[in-house]
Amino acid sequence: MNSPTCDKLIDGKAVSAKVLAEVAADVALLTAEGIQPALAVVLVGDDPASHVYVRNKVLRAGEVGIRSLEHRLPAEASAEQVLALIAELNADPQVHGILVQLPLPAHIDETRVLQAIDPAKDVDGFHSENVGGLSQGRDVLTPCTPAGCMRLLHDTLGDLRGKHAVVIGRSNIVGKPMAALLLQADCTVSVLHSRSQDPQRLCRQADIVVAAVGRPRMIDASWLKPGAVVIDVGINRIEEDGRTRLVGDVDYASALPVASAITPVPGGVGPMTIAMLMQNTLTAARQQRSQAPAATAAEEAACRSAC
Ligand code: GUN
Repeated sequence: MNSPTCDKLIDGKAVSAKVLAEVAADVALLTAEGIQPALAVVLVGDDPASHVYVRNKVLRAGEVGIRSLEHRLPAEASAEQVLALIAELNADPQVHGILVQLPLPAHIDETRVLQAIDPAKDVDGFHSENVGGLSQGRDVLTPCTPAGCMRLLHDTLGDLRGKHAVVIGRSNIVGKPMAALLLQADCTVSVLHSRSQDPQRLCRQADIVVAAVGRPRMIDASWLKPGAVVIDVGINRIEEDGRTRLVGDVDYASALPVASAITPVPGGVGPMTIAMLMQNTLTAARQQRSQAPAATAAEEAACRSAC
């Protein structure tokens, strides 16, 4: 049944399935050429949510034909141990993507670890080389959640040129790269944060609202211009009516009648993040193939005699 409200739903599950099918087809082609894309996932410590995220990433990789390598270190692992593992993965030509699941235990400097990853294998797009490249509009590995939001926006609106986009939240993982991507798509971009004055008034001017604040149901109808497209990045666990629920940063019931299109939680942005991670791993593998040093004459001769 197609109710008017259902027509407004931006279905992240359906779009991510499409992305994953495209990635799987391209992974199969690359594998047939002798290069199976491989993703190394590093998990340090016992954070239960991180364990769930990593399990999902590994499962999804298997489904699209990407080889995944899980590296688990105990919570008390030293920064040097983590850095030594990254150095090993950087040097391994069979590894095309490296992801260190965040957050890391408090005694480990996150920036130092992320900066140690080879930018060519940085499938999270968190290395300063890739962050800088994104802000310069270069074609670099891009953080997965913002990349997924962009795919949903393009699928919903087509051309984004000239739209006024408001990003609520300024994290390194979502808010800042999201703003850079929207700018690259020729949007007029405002970034709202905890010190913004009268954020509701500013948000009501937006054609596109991307909410990434991590506060359950903070954005309700009073923040929205009628017809706005709303992308809800929040995944908040709350207790309500005696049970645990997952809710977004947007008050879905309040926003639905006002928005022209909106992502649900769950089933909106969440599935897109993993799909874009698979896409980035494929991209990294392709780029490393084209940049691999040419075989030496001796290697070619050895190959010819072996054949
Ligand atoms: N923890 C929460 N989100 C992310 C993400 O996008 N990448 C990594 N590596 N860790 C996360």
